[in-house]
Amino acid sequence: MKPIGPLMREHRRIERIIPVLKTELNRIDKGNEANVELLTVAVDFFRTYADRTHHGKEEDILFRELVKKPLSPEHKTTMDELIQEHIYARKTVSALVAAKDAYRKGDKGAVRDIVKRVTELVNFYPAHIEKEDQHFFYPVLDYFSKQEQDDMLQEFWEFDRLLIHEKYQRVIEELETNLTPQ
Ligand SMILES: [Fe+2]
Ligand SMILES: [Fe+2]
Repeated sequence: MKPIGPLMREHRRIERIIPVLKTELNRIDKGNEANVELLTVAVDFFRTYADRTHHGKEEDILFRELVKKPLSPEHKTTMDELIQEHIYARKTVSALVAAKDAYRKGDKGAVRDIVKRVTELVNFYPAHIEKEDQHFFYPVLDYFSKQEQDDMLQEFWEFDRLLIHEKYQRVIEELETNLTPQ
């Protein structure tokens, strides 16, 4: 398998959140309450899966190795754009969290911000994924030897292996921090 194999498989999973969120936008548009539980799960999906697991492998491994190569100006530009787009995605998810928290605490007007941020994410991810799938992953593979590609794939698996522990280390630390003595 090529190292872009797992990344593209992750794209196929990430894009499945889009129809879910479009359905939620339609429900809100019809005058229903925002589904805070669904949005909380979606935020975790974006943060833990799309960002840490997926963008993490792109930035911490693939892009880290690409900067060591004599990239064409076009590939360098695209990689810089992709990095900026990851930053945009993180900021948008954080803004969605703020809107969702305000809404949950009773600020019903925050539903407009929820709609704004969810719409931004629904528009962003398919375009970002298409840019990588159609215009970046295949051409940049040519910078790597077969051995380098195999090593990268191994590093991807190792990266993934550690994530479940990282995630629940954070969960337990948050639970401990928020523990109120009885
Ligand atoms: Fe990306
Ligand atoms: Fe990606």
